Amino acid sequence: MTNTLGMGSKDVLEVCKAVELSCAELYYYFADLFKDDRESYLLWLKTAMEEENHARLFELVAKLRQNNIVGSIRTEQVDAEDTLLYVRSLIEKVRNRPPSQEEALRIAIDLEKMLDSFMLEKVIRFADQSYEKSFLAIANTDSRHLESLKEVYGRLPESGRSHYHDTTSSES
Ligand SMILES: [Fe+2]
Ligand SMILES: [Fe+2]
Repeated sequence: MTNTLGMGSKDVLEVCKAVELSCAELYYYFADLFKDDRESYLLWLKTAMEEENHARLFELVAKLRQNNIVGSIRTEQVDAEDTLLYVRSLIEKVRNRPPSQEEALRIAIDLEKMLDSFMLEKVIRFADQSYEKSFLAIANTDSRHLESLKEVYGRLPESGRSHYHDTTSSES
């Protein structure tokens, strides 16, 4: 067991939670922006709610730290804070200049890829594999919502995504 359960750890988890809530805020904004398109509205609403669930998981993990369920925390506070600033600036940017549906999808897909290392299972090292399994079962929704965003993006007319190249598709 390493150092990482000191004072700073709680803050890291709080920042991670704030990142998830900021993602939710971004996706609720997209839902509102595209509320006239039912399919789009529901996609963003669902994605936003999943982010809220991720925030709740971080909150839960923070509470469980006292019970030796969390082995260590692998994310640096400064990285979490940088990420939070980035998501906040993204929200400000899209509020100032509302994106098209295609742009919104691209923004979300890029963001989800960037946030991959902030998913719960990468932030936390669980003390026991059985804990990890239970948490992963819940936290797993994230990769699925990236998949559903990509799927919707893939259904756009070719002209709409001519400038977008999925640079990470070969990794999966
Ligand atoms: Fe998330
Ligand atoms: Fe996400």
